Amino acid sequence: MTDEYFGTPAQIAMMRRTSALWSLLKDHPDYGFYGRSVMLSDYGAGGFEAFEPLIRLSGAGVAYGVRTDAADEEKATLAGAGFHTDSYGYCHTVEPSIELAREVVGRHALPDDLTVIEIDMESPAADVSDLAEVALAGGVLPSPGHVLRGRTVDGVVLLAREVGTGRPVACAAAFDSFKRGTQRGDHAWWGMLSTVPDRRGQRIALILGAMAMLRMFEKTGLSKFFTSIRHGNASSTALCAKLGVAHTGWETIVGMDPEQFSGQLTA
Ligand SMILES: CC(C)(COP(=O)(O)OP(=O)(O)OC[C@H]1O[C@@H](n2cnc3c(N)ncnc32)[C@H](O)[C@@H]1OP(=O)(O)O)[C@@H](O)C(=O)NCCC(=O)NCCS
Repeated sequence: MTDEYFGTPAQIAMMRRTSALWSLLKDHPDYGFYGRSVMLSDYGAGGFEAFEPLIRLSGAGVAYGVRTDAADEEKATLAGAGFHTDSYGYCHTVEPSIELAREVVGRHALPDDLTVIEIDMESPAADVSDLAEVALAGGVLPSPGHVLRGRTVDGVVLLAREVGTGRPVACAAAFDSFKRGTQRGDHAWWGMLSTVPDRRGQRIALILGAMAMLRMFEKTGLSKFFTSIRHGNASSTALCAKLGVAHTGWETIVGMDPEQFSGQLTA
């Protein structure tokens, strides 16, 4: 259970390096983490100098704080240093997410054949690997087990299973990624939303996502959330908007060192 990493060999190797790097940076106010890569809170303040070491050390880094209209320029700077880049729309709570989540769970119920479990330190290894399987089925990179279990980052990780078959069908998560009192410290990262293709369109992700928000609020008091959505992901954009999480013109930039990691960090 100490070595639960999922994804391609390159993703796994990258997350092992990232996890080691986070053990050194975990008290630094400018960085955050929920398992995939170390995140720079404000590229606008730290710039390339603060971002480059993250990419060189772990193979991939994530930076926030870039205006969407400046993203191409910043990506060109990274490309000029030999890095590959990717980007997502940075989305955050713009309407009261907790109230909306309460309305969702008050108005809708999960299909009767589903049960929800919360992953914790004592969860059987099969629960964690099943969650990873569901995430990966949607192209979503699951965090390593030490994060999913709450050993290194506080959070909420939910898995929905079919009662009869035991088949895992959907997942959602939220993590307390940035230190309180820092720029993003009053927001929890939220996401890891994935529903297996044959169960989509039944409001499972909406309800599970709302449940993850409510449980996160109960555990940590955090009532605001942020996530990153690939431009053009209509289902995720619509779902997040229903929970008050929307794009406001900021970008999430990914920098990758192609000698260590390339492709997509996640869907
Ligand atoms: C995004 C995803 C998790 C949605 O799962 P789901 O269980 O089918 O979603 P829900 O049924 O709960 O949909 C909730 C809302 O999202 C919107 N939505 C869902 N699918 C949609 C689609 N294909 N197009 C547009 N809107 C859509 C609807 O507004 C829906 O609410 P409504 O039913 O009241 O109209 C699923 O499509 C998936 O696993 N995708 C691949 C992984 C992924 O992209 N994850 C998000 C990464 S940011």
